[in-house]
Amino acid sequence: MSKRTIVTMPGDGIGKAVLDETLRVLEAAGFDAEYVEGDIGWEFWKSEGNPLPQRTIDLLEKHKIALFGAITSKPKDEAFEELAPELKDKGLVYSSPIVGLRQHFNLEICARPCKTYKGNPLNFIRRGQGNEIEEPEIDVVIFRQNTEGLYGGVEWSNPEDKVYETFMSHPKFKKNFGHVPKEEISISTRIFSKERTYNILKAAFDYARKYGYKSVTLAEKPNVIRETSGMMYKMALQMQKNDYPEIELWNTNIDAQMMWLTKNPENYGVIVAGNMFGDIVSDGFAGLIGGLGFACSAQWSLDGVAVFEPTHGSAPKYADYETSIVNPIAMIESACMMLDFIEEKEISDKIRKAVAEVIAEGKVRTYDMMKMRGTADVVKKGAASTKEMADAIIAKL
Ligand code: NAI
Ligand code: MG
Repeated sequence: MSKRTIVTMPGDGIGKAVLDETLRVLEAAGFDAEYVEGDIGWEFWKSEGNPLPQRTIDLLEKHKIALFGAITSKPKDEAFEELAPELKDKGLVYSSPIVGLRQHFNLEICARPCKTYKGNPLNFIRRGQGNEIEEPEIDVVIFRQNTEGLYGGVEWSNPEDKVYETFMSHPKFKKNFGHVPKEEISISTRIFSKERTYNILKAAFDYARKYGYKSVTLAEKPNVIRETSGMMYKMALQMQKNDYPEIELWNTNIDAQMMWLTKNPENYGVIVAGNMFGDIVSDGFAGLIGGLGFACSAQWSLDGVAVFEPTHGSAPKYADYETSIVNPIAMIESACMMLDFIEEKEISDKIRKAVAEVIAEGKVRTYDMMKMRGTADVVKKGAASTKEMADAIIAKL
């Protein structure tokens, strides 16, 4: 069989450091692939006026699978300021390349696992009945609709007349906002389509079945957001009844879910939600298993284009340290999700086992695991660098 080709997109800031170390881990684990690098991020915005050049899209079109580090995004004015002088009069407007990728390839399914590693000093703990300390073992995977809803970009401030009139034809808009001057109104919509709602629900149930989770929890708010959350809930009920009778469907409201996740996080398995609530609930769970240094994610389209990335951003304040100090585990875990996706489960199991051993042993810890502030001298103070953490994992392999 010919070697698989993986597109690597380091992006900005710490993206490159964590991706480089992850590639070393993949190699040490025996994953044999060719890598082609895709240009993405701030550098390409500044020099070409496009943070997601067409050549990168073409690469992903061809090879389908990508590992992505992180990108930097800056507000509109700053983005314009940093544009190369010869591009300044071209009317270019910055937009996030990661959102661009999601839209271009319809990467509608986003999965974010949050699993406790024994011995991680950042694990969530609580007190039990006898006042003893309990450390619940969390094994949750959040399925987040990745392209619609509140992040769908259908928004207005001071909407044009025909939009405003359409809204005014809704009795509740008229009653609650009819007295507000049009110029003072901002509207962001939350649009769900049946097809994509079905797809994210199905992805969640399929995953629960494949990996033996006993429940799928819908974390929305159908009692208040009746049309979108309501539709999703109805579809989930139907789907469970018809196709997944062996899996329980739980329905929680997103606000209550954020409370429950610190009371009994071990009770949840697969969680499914729309775009924004999925984003929120996945950050919530990530906080219980170590935060951004551990939060990995995958996003894919139903026709097989998939991008694997840590949840964290480019952490620009750490990007220029001579020795990189950030935790590579979120990126390494994201690469494990890639391996699962391309049916290389043996290799991903091996890597996860090595990561688990390093964490359990507790000798090698990055600054975040030592609850230090991320200053440039943390390595001198005993924290492992990005590379040292990867070395420790490789040694276990
Ligand atoms: P961030 O995730 O880059 O960093 C926030 C803080 O989290 C860091 O200062 C650091 O203390 C900690 N942190 C992040 N990654 C870590 C790691 N691997 N190990 C240990 N600690 C880690 O988020 P921030 O500061 O809000 O955004 C910085 C830039 O990243 C912005 O330009 C933002 O737009 C972009 N961003 C990009 C994302 C992406 O590429 N998918 C996601 C989030 C933010
Ligand atoms: Mg987020």
